[in-house]
Amino acid sequence: MNILGIETSCDETAAALWQTMDGKGRILAEKVASQIDTHARFGGVVPEVASREHLAVLPILAQQVMQQAGLTWSELDGIAVTAGPGLMGALLVGTAWARGAACVNNIPVLPVHHMEGHLLAPGLDHELPPFPFVTLLVSGGHTLLVRVDGIGRYVQLGQTIDDAAGECFDKSARLLGLPYPGGPAIAKLAENGDAKRFALPRPMLNRDNLDFSFSGLKTAVMYAVHKMDDMDEQTRTDMAASVEAAICEVLVSKSIRACRQTGSKHLLIAGGVAANRTLRHLLETQSENSGISVHLPRPEHCTDNAAMIAYAAAKRLEKGLAFPDKWDARPRWPLEELSKT
Ligand code: KG4
Ligand code: ZN
Repeated sequence: MNILGIETSCDETAAALWQTMDGKGRILAEKVASQIDTHARFGGVVPEVASREHLAVLPILAQQVMQQAGLTWSELDGIAVTAGPGLMGALLVGTAWARGAACVNNIPVLPVHHMEGHLLAPGLDHELPPFPFVTLLVSGGHTLLVRVDGIGRYVQLGQTIDDAAGECFDKSARLLGLPYPGGPAIAKLAENGDAKRFALPRPMLNRDNLDFSFSGLKTAVMYAVHKMDDMDEQTRTDMAASVEAAICEVLVSKSIRACRQTGSKHLLIAGGVAANRTLRHLLETQSENSGISVHLPRPEHCTDNAAMIAYAAAKRLEKGLAFPDKWDARPRWPLEELSKT
């Protein structure tokens, strides 16, 4: 089975080819064109600019991965495309292109939930552990703890009640005068910082539930920054390390709690924030102490990519799960709706 994956939900244009043969799967080719440089001067993603860039880049990327994989269009079993959630204009570029290419080549188009792509992405690099397992999904717009009972069977255990973890990284970075996207910028600066210098809050850490809250942490950073007349470089570095430590500590602690509460011995992480090295290290060390094995996708499969979209579609097809005939791009699309279909 050969699936072409397409991802254009935000600021990365991506195409990839996933092949399953004799029960084994592999990525034949993948490409991601980041728009970070385009949006960085605006301090965040400009939706209309993102759509236009997807439009210019996507056909070229798709052609390139087809060539790299040495496949003809007639050898494809489907074109998987992110149908949501994401920026409406950006989604429309990807879905319209996928529908057109699928129609011309007489193959099915397979609408995929972006978060299902992230959730299953650890399977791109290693075999997925036995179900059920727990996944911490941390991206720019979502912070979720999910019990994965099977492909297409997701139970939300907890979520953020306000900002997402990625959003907290991005907003804190902006307060520190760092460029977009804030997560990698904070992580880089934090390497040389003293994470204990600023006592930032660990929101909801002691609440006995699996929900998160990050807006108070962002506000604490704002007050700390505004209190200083002038922030020297070491102070900025120490603040970056303190913010990163606060976010990671809460994420790790709640993830381990989720495993304990559900009796799961396997913890997966996914989404852009899962590329964070401090988070990965902390998860590995703390889970080991709790007898939980952690499954980490490669950093490039944590951030937005098309291999995860092709892979999620392939897994659904393998399970015999149907894709709808009639569907539209959906900027908002709760993950739990997938379990009802
Ligand atoms: O999953 P993703 O690529 O796009 C969405 O679907 O949102 O996640 C993007 C988020 C951004 O908030 C970005 O700052 C964050 O992931 N991020 C990181 C790192 N790399 C990306 N946050 C912390 N450390 C990183 N290394
Ligand atoms: Zn994403």
